Amino acid sequence: MTGRYWESTLPGAGRRAPRADAVSDAAVLSLNGTWRFRLSPTAAGTGHGFVATDFDDTDWDEMRVPSHWVLEAFTPLVGGPARRMLGTEEGPLYTNTAYPIPLDPPYVSTENPTGDYRLVFDVPADFGPAVLRFQGVDSCAKVWLNGEELGWSTGSRLPFEFDAPVRAGRNVLAVRVHRWSAGTYLEDQDMWWLPGIFRDVELISRPTGAIDDHFVHADYDHVTGLGTLRVDASIDAVVVIPELGIEMPAGETATVSVEPWSADIPRLYRGTLRAAGETVELAVGFRRVEIVDGVFVVNGSPLTFRGVNRHEHHPDTGRTLDRETMIQDIVMMKRANIDSVRTSHYPPHPEFLRLCDVYGLWVVLEVDLETHGFIYEGWEHNPPALPEWREAIMDRLRRTVERDKNHPSIVVWSLANESMSGDGFTEMRRWLDERDPSRVVLYERDPSYRDSDFYALMYPSLELLESIGRREEPRGGKLSMHGMVFDDPDEPLPAGVTEAEEERRRGLPFLLVEYAHAMGNGPGGLQDYWRVLRAYDRLCGGFVWEWIDHGINAVDADGHAFVLQSEDIDYEPRGGRFSLDGLVLSDRTPKPALAELAKAHEVIDIEVGERVRIANERHAADTSDLGFRWSVEADGRVVASGVLDVPPIARGERVETAIPDAAASALRATDAVLTVEAALAAATAWAPEGHVIAWGQKVAEPVEEAARPGRGIAAVASRDGDVIRVGEASFDAATGRLIGLGDLPLDGPWIDLYRAPTENDHGQGDHNNLAAVWRATGLHRLLHRVDDVAVDGERLVVRGRTAPRTHPHGVAWTMTWMPDGDGVRLDAAVDFVGPWADTPFKHRDIWVPRLGLRFALPAAADRVAWFGRGPEETYADSVEGARVGRFERTIDALQTPYPIPQENGNHTQTRWLEVSGDGMPALRVDGEPFDFAARRWTSEQLEAARRPSDLVAGDRVWLNLDHGQQGIGSASVGPALPERYRVPRERTAWSVRLSVV
Ligand code: GAL
Repeated sequence: MTGRYWESTLPGAGRRAPRADAVSDAAVLSLNGTWRFRLSPTAAGTGHGFVATDFDDTDWDEMRVPSHWVLEAFTPLVGGPARRMLGTEEGPLYTNTAYPIPLDPPYVSTENPTGDYRLVFDVPADFGPAVLRFQGVDSCAKVWLNGEELGWSTGSRLPFEFDAPVRAGRNVLAVRVHRWSAGTYLEDQDMWWLPGIFRDVELISRPTGAIDDHFVHADYDHVTGLGTLRVDASIDAVVVIPELGIEMPAGETATVSVEPWSADIPRLYRGTLRAAGETVELAVGFRRVEIVDGVFVVNGSPLTFRGVNRHEHHPDTGRTLDRETMIQDIVMMKRANIDSVRTSHYPPHPEFLRLCDVYGLWVVLEVDLETHGFIYEGWEHNPPALPEWREAIMDRLRRTVERDKNHPSIVVWSLANESMSGDGFTEMRRWLDERDPSRVVLYERDPSYRDSDFYALMYPSLELLESIGRREEPRGGKLSMHGMVFDDPDEPLPAGVTEAEEERRRGLPFLLVEYAHAMGNGPGGLQDYWRVLRAYDRLCGGFVWEWIDHGINAVDADGHAFVLQSEDIDYEPRGGRFSLDGLVLSDRTPKPALAELAKAHEVIDIEVGERVRIANERHAADTSDLGFRWSVEADGRVVASGVLDVPPIARGERVETAIPDAAASALRATDAVLTVEAALAAATAWAPEGHVIAWGQKVAEPVEEAARPGRGIAAVASRDGDVIRVGEASFDAATGRLIGLGDLPLDGPWIDLYRAPTENDHGQGDHNNLAAVWRATGLHRLLHRVDDVAVDGERLVVRGRTAPRTHPHGVAWTMTWMPDGDGVRLDAAVDFVGPWADTPFKHRDIWVPRLGLRFALPAAADRVAWFGRGPEETYADSVEGARVGRFERTIDALQTPYPIPQENGNHTQTRWLEVSGDGMPALRVDGEPFDFAARRWTSEQLEAARRPSDLVAGDRVWLNLDHGQQGIGSASVGPALPERYRVPRERTAWSVRLSVV
């Protein structure tokens, strides 16, 4: 059908050629602000009348530009018209791989919410010829100026410009924005569908003699230390870099001695490009990006990305981000030892890249292209494979590269995300080789890797990663939702892959484009990945999935604020909770995982043993910007501290030094810990002086306790009616349960085998769904039976069985209590009985998530102090980022507020613990390192809650003292939790000592 431009496979019409983003002295009129807006249900919009300069829009709605209309209308309202938009085509929608429109390219449904925008603005008389620029419109826009059509465009996260015949004085801009278009088929990224003019709109003056485009070529030779600079310009112009003494015509080359640019030391040389009509600012960074013998090398040394995948997200404004938020992201990343970003899955706002140049982050810049939903048609009609889409795909590449080509931070162009194969990629690659040979190219999803300089995968297991590091990975593989899996070594090569391509692929460096799925409580295993990533030159690092949760601030009908996610919307298809998988929550509160990642990413390795060993693993910098200091904490207080005299360590070098005498003697105190830190000696753009970038610890052995004095209580356990006493402890004679210790009322313990499943416990679909196995095995509905309560001399021995309703399996347990000085000791022994494996439920591998003891304390309990890892939660596979020490927290602060309630707040490797509260004696627990958690609700209540506001304090505090709990892993998308992080289903015995203080 003619005229239906939004269903055209062409990318647009009437637009100017793409060109470099530039900061210049040409006048700019921002057209951001309040526009008039009217939403219509179909692409016809309000009809044609609205383009007229005298159209009366006084009764139209007001709309903030830039914004996504679905969030503007929705966010602040409770129960108003915006709430009704939820779950309709008109509200915010979230899908992961599926298209929200029928798969019928290039057509879209007639239901196609369309926003007509109008703006009346004044142009000063001396403004001159002008260009109108849209930095981003989702998904298709047609534009009229003063009633005259300028053209239309798709490509949501890319700029487009029109020559704009503005008049001095009043002008009228009319823009029609369609939610769905043919462009939608190229934008199936796992994220919210958020239509609107969501980035800046600007009118830029283009005087005669203006610089339309420029290209900075700044190479660095690490052998000679020389930089080579050439700036190409679309017009005669002069390049001036005062610091380098450069003043030369554009197009000429200068070779000068320079410091290179790196994320470690983001050295920029500022200057200008001057033409008759315009001066453009230059921020030049010299660097060379190469693949040398299968290793990724920048400025002569191998580069390892310590990266995250970053979507643009703000919980109020979606993908409309202000500069402060971009800086906040970068500062938080730099402080967490993150040195690189993959711009998943589209070019970010251009300001973000300027900031990356300045602050120092390596960037893998991804083209706005994903066609994942064609998987539902077996990849038939996949646009990158079809000639009719070629122009649109090349348009996306050109607009990306032309806009961003001058940023030293960008070292890799990524052709697309998850779009399978096609000749389109080969054409993209060819164009890049011509236009920008100074960078390397990544494409992960084509199994031939013919257009990629990297071999790349998502979410491989550690074993596979290690074999890739050794260049011994299996051949072949087959394609799964998240890329290649290799479960059969005899698998033939994937269809279409030649032996020659396979041979070439084996020679490529390897990039972990996505790993460690940070959904909910997670990811675990980061240190393991980094032990492998550090060990092999072929592996050039990785990007955690992902930086931030994409939750939307919302308010429920009762006025409670909550974080809206896809399951809150009644709409099919939904992407489930996969929008909540960031290292930071939607409001950018760091999850504990961020500290764990910071530890895994440390580039200064500090090992404190008999001596202190410090290694510099930075890419470029020595350690002259750092100070090294030590401190000994005993019982939570610093008892000695000092400076460690360490000479500057060149990159790749290590030094060793003795533990200072003062530290060694202070380490003899009770609960003493020596910490050595590397901290910034002076403030940087991203952190204050003293910011710690790396640390190592030595924990003193526990001091032998003198025999604990008794309090003259009869050593023999005694029965007094319904109560049995063992030292200070009283037990219910019928149930054998502890009911008090001194004056502290207690209840329990119960054997606990369960935890509220985390997102990662649910696995992916049927794959690795441990939570489903736990349910089928009945772990969430355990009953407890007491078989025997026997006094045996000074001991009380209680025997029983804990088992799920319905099932034949369970655990038999014995709890032996005996007086221990002023407290009581519990020896717990647990044996797994019954046919656990090969049950009729066909779960051959049944692992329990936890093995421990659950106690109830009075609700007055509200503070916890402990010695162990902390203060944030830790798990078996997510622990090294937390220090060892003595910590104190309120019980409320021990809870990590994941927006979907799930297991949280565990603490591993605890030596002792005290729980106290007003008007109650404090409970003290000592033991072999144990896990603890304290909360005002049970695991079952935690599991049942849909939102944090469903969790309400009860009349007890629940304390878990556990022998162990399984790790966290990454199985919601990644591999299964390794066995070493699970709780073995075997006979286990452990002890704890309880006392009141
Ligand atoms: C990857 C994809 C990401 C995200 C992730 C799971 O396959 O590239 O966009 O969907 O899986 O959260």
